[in-house]
Amino acid sequence: MTKRVAILISGGGSNMVSLVDSMTGDHPARPVLVLSNRPGAGGLDKAAARGVPTAVVDHRPFGGDRAAFEAALQTGLAMARPDILCLAGFMRVLTPDFTNAWAGRMLNIHPSLLPKYRGLHTHQRAIEAGDAEAGCTVHEVTAELDDGPILGQARVPIRPGDTAETLAARVLVQEHALYPAVLRRFAAGDRTPIFLP
Ligand code: GRF
Repeated sequence: MTKRVAILISGGGSNMVSLVDSMTGDHPARPVLVLSNRPGAGGLDKAAARGVPTAVVDHRPFGGDRAAFEAALQTGLAMARPDILCLAGFMRVLTPDFTNAWAGRMLNIHPSLLPKYRGLHTHQRAIEAGDAEAGCTVHEVTAELDDGPILGQARVPIRPGDTAETLAARVLVQEHALYPAVLRRFAAGDRTPIFLP
């Protein structure tokens, strides 16, 4: 049975594009919705250009009322009847109520080699720590931020003179390889982690 995948974005959606473009042929999943919390997110046009239905649930009118925002999110998602949620550059922190409702069915990609550097500014922190390498992690989303079971990682070297921007660009290339590979395996019911290279 083909799994129905909804992808949540906040920005350009380059990871969303990689995921959507990967779900073809004998892939066990298909994209059914791209939802953004920001009306102007560049990823919305990219999704529409690929024939994927889109939706916007603007978080701003809800202020700090996360429960109300997430109720609206659930309503927006329900129409697409997704089996799996992929967070892809989605920049809102979700409450345990939401993450528990999707436990075991929600993935996220984070731009560090978790458990190192949960949260923001991951590349700058790795450079400042003098790390030899950086990378990205796809994990199941749980109530703890950037903390769920790891489903895949990709590593890249940190080079002399790297800035957060040059490192982010190198890691992003690996994100676009890792996330589709993990989703394909996950949609087939296989949680064996993938490590690149
Ligand atoms: C990426 O670095 C991703 O790791 C993080 O958000 C950034 C932008 O992602 N979650 P995208 O280009 O919007 O997919």
